[in-house]
Amino acid sequence: MSQEFNITVLPGDGIGPEVIREAVKILRIVEAKKNLKLHLTEAPAGGAAYDATGHPLPEATLNTAKEADAVLLGAVGGPKWETLDFALRPERALLGLRSNLGLFANLRPAKIFAPLVEASTLKPDVVEGLDIMVVRELTGGIYFGEPRGVETLADGSRRGINTLVYTDSEIERIAKVAFDVARKRGKNVCSVDKANVLECTGLWREVVTETHEDYQDITLSHMYVDNCAMQLVRNPKQFDVIVTTNMFGDILSDQASMLTGSIGMLPSASLGGKNAMYEPIHGSAPDIAGKDIANPLAAILSVGMMFKYSLNLEDINVVLEKVVDEVLKQGYRTGDILSKGMKEVGCIAMGDRVAEELEKRLS
Ligand code: IPM
Ligand code: MG
Repeated sequence: MSQEFNITVLPGDGIGPEVIREAVKILRIVEAKKNLKLHLTEAPAGGAAYDATGHPLPEATLNTAKEADAVLLGAVGGPKWETLDFALRPERALLGLRSNLGLFANLRPAKIFAPLVEASTLKPDVVEGLDIMVVRELTGGIYFGEPRGVETLADGSRRGINTLVYTDSEIERIAKVAFDVARKRGKNVCSVDKANVLECTGLWREVVTETHEDYQDITLSHMYVDNCAMQLVRNPKQFDVIVTTNMFGDILSDQASMLTGSIGMLPSASLGGKNAMYEPIHGSAPDIAGKDIANPLAAILSVGMMFKYSLNLEDINVVLEKVVDEVLKQGYRTGDILSKGMKEVGCIAMGDRVAEELEKRLS
């Protein structure tokens, strides 16, 4: 009997639909080759949903996401919606999905593919062999803390407020995820905070240290976020797993992505709830949308993570990474990772190259 899975597909805005189309190609190939039954339900999210329904995360979209085994998301946002009230902005769809699905643990692997060592803006010996996993807390911290907003004071001046909040249980559960992830990798966790200034992350440091007592096989270190940002470009290979707050993780994962050549390469998995969500870490890149030049590899590698964490086919993730490596070795590059002597291809052609190689490997 074939295994059946329900997958909610949320292409979103900008280059989202383009990269998701290529990712779905890959899903369909694996479905056929591995004799699976994948039920894909597409739904609007982000600016596209706002335009169609007046809300970035319509109830129907949230409901299909809740019922699915896994959610695949492209990207949301764009200048068209930037003047909307915060509650109606495309980004709210993403934040709403994360919190409503309880996806508190965001895994963002920054792994360099050997053929791309030259595409990094850092020297080859600094990034060669780089393999970092950023574990970002995703449903708490300053992204969700109350009070928040902009208020007008009696004298007519305005004041903007956001609040950094973490409870000990929120910290403990993300620390456990990081230690468990590290156990299957280099057994090294660096917890990143700003404990010298922010009380909340002082608590973070304390709770991570306490949680570590049950993980004596893992080496734990702590680092302030400013130092971490510096170390990431100075000597990134010192890191194995980085665990950090929602906002620090947002920033450091973009930085880590660039070490690998392009933000267009990095997938992510958001775990911790009944199901899970997979998305490239890049944004909607409205400036290149609709031109067939976006890099679909992050979306394709996100499908790999979906097979690993949601669809019980860990080997597909391994195969997909090999296939991407092979296609890069053959010299195919989208514009963001292009270097001299390489063959420039568009989003669709890159998807086709990966699809062809994958078919060969799975047959
Ligand atoms: C990300 C993005 C989002 C975030 C935005 C689009 C809300 O930057 O997934 O990293 O800040 O989490
Ligand atoms: Mg980000």
